[in-house]
Amino acid sequence: MTNFSSESLSPSSDKAKFPSDFVWGAATSSYQIEGAVTEDGKGAHIWDIFTREEGRIFENHTGEIACDHYHHFKEDVKLMKEMGIQAYRFSIDWSRVLPNGFGTVNEKGIAFYNALIDELLKNDIEPYVTLYHWELPYELYKRGGWLNPQIVEWFGDYARLVAERFSDRVKNFFTLNEPQCFIGLGFLTGDHAPGVQAPLRDTFEMAHNALKAHGKAVQMLRAYGKQKLCIGYAPTASMCYPATESAQDIEAARTALFSLPADKQNWTWNVSWWSDPVFFGQYPKEGLVKYEKYLPKITDEDMKLISQPIDMYGQNIYNGQCVRMGKDGKPEFVKRYEGFPKTAIDWPVTPECLNWGPRFLYERYQTPIYITENGLSCHDVVSLDGKVHDPNRIDFLARYLGELKKAATAADIRGYFHWSLMDNFEWSKGYSERFGLIYVDYRTQQRIMKDSAYWYRDYIKNNGEI
Ligand code: NOJ
Repeated sequence: MTNFSSESLSPSSDKAKFPSDFVWGAATSSYQIEGAVTEDGKGAHIWDIFTREEGRIFENHTGEIACDHYHHFKEDVKLMKEMGIQAYRFSIDWSRVLPNGFGTVNEKGIAFYNALIDELLKNDIEPYVTLYHWELPYELYKRGGWLNPQIVEWFGDYARLVAERFSDRVKNFFTLNEPQCFIGLGFLTGDHAPGVQAPLRDTFEMAHNALKAHGKAVQMLRAYGKQKLCIGYAPTASMCYPATESAQDIEAARTALFSLPADKQNWTWNVSWWSDPVFFGQYPKEGLVKYEKYLPKITDEDMKLISQPIDMYGQNIYNGQCVRMGKDGKPEFVKRYEGFPKTAIDWPVTPECLNWGPRFLYERYQTPIYITENGLSCHDVVSLDGKVHDPNRIDFLARYLGELKKAATAADIRGYFHWSLMDNFEWSKGYSERFGLIYVDYRTQQRIMKDSAYWYRDYIKNNGEI
C-alpha cells in the first residue's frame, strides 16, 4: 500500500492506474428495489407507512412494487453477470427478517436473502451487505426509534442475527448508510420518512444513538461472524476540491471539507462530526463547543463503543465544491459559472470530487476507502430502436472514474460501486429520477441494459484502461 503523506497530495498524475485487484461493483437498497412489501411475513418500516401518506412523495409513488426485485432477483443477478459486475452492494430490510425489529425471526425473509446471496456467489459476484439503508421497523419507531437509547441493543441484536445467518458466505458488511441523510432529511427537514421536524436537541441525540448502534453492530458482527469479516461504515457528504493544485488551495479545500457547517440547521451535512467519532473516538472539539446546548450526555464509554476498529471506510460521493484560499487566509467557495453542467436531478457535475474526496478522507482516517455510491440520474427513455442511449451517463462515468483513478494511485482505494445497478424508487422523488445502469419499465418490469451498462462492462474488463 502507498505510504500516503500530505506531500503526495499533489500533483495529480495522469499516468495513474487502478490496482489490479480493484473491486468494480454496483449498489442498490432494499426498499428502493424489492417491492413485495406485505409478502411472506415482512413487517412494516417507516418508509412503508410514510409513502402511503398523501402528498409525501412525488405523485404519491410508493415502493410497494418498485422493481419487484423480490421476484426478479435471478434475472437481476444474470444482468450483473452480463455486465461483469464483481461485487454487489445491497441492503437487508430489517423488517423483512425481524418484522417487529426485535424478537421473532421471519424465516421467509431470511430465505429470500439466502437465495439472493447464493445466486450471487454462484455467479462469482461478491456480496457487500448494508445493514441499515433507512428501513427502520415501524414498531421500533413507535417505541421512539433513534431517540430511544434501546435502539443500540435492537440494532446490535439485528446485526447478530445477520452475522449468524449470512456471514458464513458474506464477508463484507457496512453498518449505516448515510446517517447524515436519515437524520437530516428524516428528522430535520421532514422530506424523508418518517417526515418529522424534530427539535435540534433531539436530532443530536438520535445521531449519537445511531453512532452507538453502529459500534454495537460492529461488535456483534465480530463476535458472531462465521469468518473474519471486513466491516465498514458508509456516510455521505459533499466533497471539496481545490481550485488549483497549489499548496494553499489544497489546504483550503481540506479545511473546508472537515469544518462544521456555519448554519446549525445544517449541522448534519458534515464529515468530521460523523466520522471523527468512528475513527478517532472523539467528536470534533469545535463542535462540542458550538453545539454544546444541543448535545446529549456523552460518556467515555459511548465513545469507546462508537470507535470499534473497522476495516473499510465507505463513502458515498456524488459531487463537491471547488475551494480556493481567500486573500484573508480563509477557504473560499468558488462560485460555479453560469450554465454549469448538472444532472437531471439538478446536482452539479464535479468529477474532481472523486479524486480529492477520497484522498482527503484517506489522509485523515487512514482506512481503506470504498466509494460505496456514485452516479447520476438522467432523462432516460427507450428509443425507437428499443435501446436506451444515455451518453450523459457514459460521459459522467468517464470523467468521474478518470479522477478516481488519479486518487487510486495516491491513496488506498479498494473499490467503486455505481449507484445504481438499476432504475429504482428515488425516495421523495419517486420514479421520476432514473439512476440505473439498467432501465426498468415499471409497467412491465422489463429490464434493458442502457448503453452505459455496456460501457461500464468494457471499463471493468479493462480495469479502467480505455
Ligand atoms: C444516496 C442514497 O444512499 C440512495 O439511497 C439514493 O438513491 C442515492 N443517494 C441517490 O440520491
